[in-house]
Amino acid sequence: MLRIAIQKSGRLSEESLKLIKECGISFINSSLKLKTESTNFPLEILYLRDDDIPGYVADGVADIGIVGENVLVEEGMQQLAVEQLGFSKCRLSLAVPKADSYTNLSDLEGKNIATSYPKLLQAYLDENGVQAHIHTISGSVEIAPSIGLADAICDIVSSGSTLISNGLKEVERVFKSQAVLIANQSLSEEKHAILDKLLFRIHAVQRAQRAKYILLNAPNDKVDTIIKLLPGIKSPTILPLAEEGWSSLHSVVNEDDFWEIIEKLKDAGAEGILVVPIEKMIK
Ligand code: PRP
Ligand code: ZN
Repeated sequence: MLRIAIQKSGRLSEESLKLIKECGISFINSSLKLKTESTNFPLEILYLRDDDIPGYVADGVADIGIVGENVLVEEGMQQLAVEQLGFSKCRLSLAVPKADSYTNLSDLEGKNIATSYPKLLQAYLDENGVQAHIHTISGSVEIAPSIGLADAICDIVSSGSTLISNGLKEVERVFKSQAVLIANQSLSEEKHAILDKLLFRIHAVQRAQRAKYILLNAPNDKVDTIIKLLPGIKSPTILPLAEEGWSSLHSVVNEDDFWEIIEKLKDAGAEGILVVPIEKMIK
C-alpha cells in the first residue's frame, strides 16, 4: 500500500484527483473524509493542507505527495521532487495597488511587503540587490495593502482574478511554479514498485494529453505530400475510401504543433479533417 498526500481544498486538489482518476485508480470520493483507499489499486489518499505535505512526505507519514513547487521550494525540500506534473501552473509575483506608479524593483526599496513566501521573496530581493521589509502572513495576503499592512504583496497568481478583485497589479514575477510529484527518500522496495506502476500510468496519461488523433481524407496523388507533414508514432495508417481515387489517413499529432500542421494539411489538399482526443498512450 502506498500513501499519497494531496491538497484538501485549493488550486491543486481538483487536478490532483483528476490525474489519479485518469490513471484508472478508483476510490470513493468524499470531501468530508481525510483519508480514502482505492478500490482497485494499492493506494491510499490523504487530504492535507498543501503547506503540510512536504513535511509529512519527508517524515514518511505519507509516502508520496502532489504539491506546488512554490510550497516545496519555500520549505527547502526540493530533494523530495520526483517530477513535474505539468498542471496547476502559476507564478509567485510581486503586486502593488493599481493606482501606484511603478517603474522597477528599486521602487520597493525600504517598503513593506506582505507574503506567505518569505524565503523565495528574500532570495529574489537579494539577487536583485533590493532591501525591503518582509511581513510573513499565512493567508489573505492580497488584502494587506488595502488595510495599510503593507505597500506591496508577493503572492501566487494563476488567473490573476484575485489581484484584480483586490485592486492590485502584478509588477514582477519572482518564481514560476507547477504541480510536482514528491516522494519520501527511503521508500521500501514494495512501495517503490507501486510508485513505478503509478508513474507508468501517469506518463501514459501525460503523453495522451499532449497528443491528438487526426483523421483526414485526401486524393491519392496528394497522400505522399501529406504523409511528410504527419509525424505519427510510426507511420500513418492509410485506408482506401469507397470513393475511387481517395484515401483516409490516420495519425497522431502533438498538440503544440497542431494548428500549424492543420494549415499545411489543408494547403496540401486534405479534406474532412477530424481531430480527436486520446485517452491513454502507451509507448
Ligand atoms: C493562491 C493565492 C490566491 C490565488 C490566486 O492561493 O493566494 O488566493 O491562488 O489565484 P488567481 O490568480 O487565479 O485568482 P493558493 O491556491 O496557493 O492557496 P493557499 O495559499 O490557500 O494554499
Ligand atoms: Zn497553502
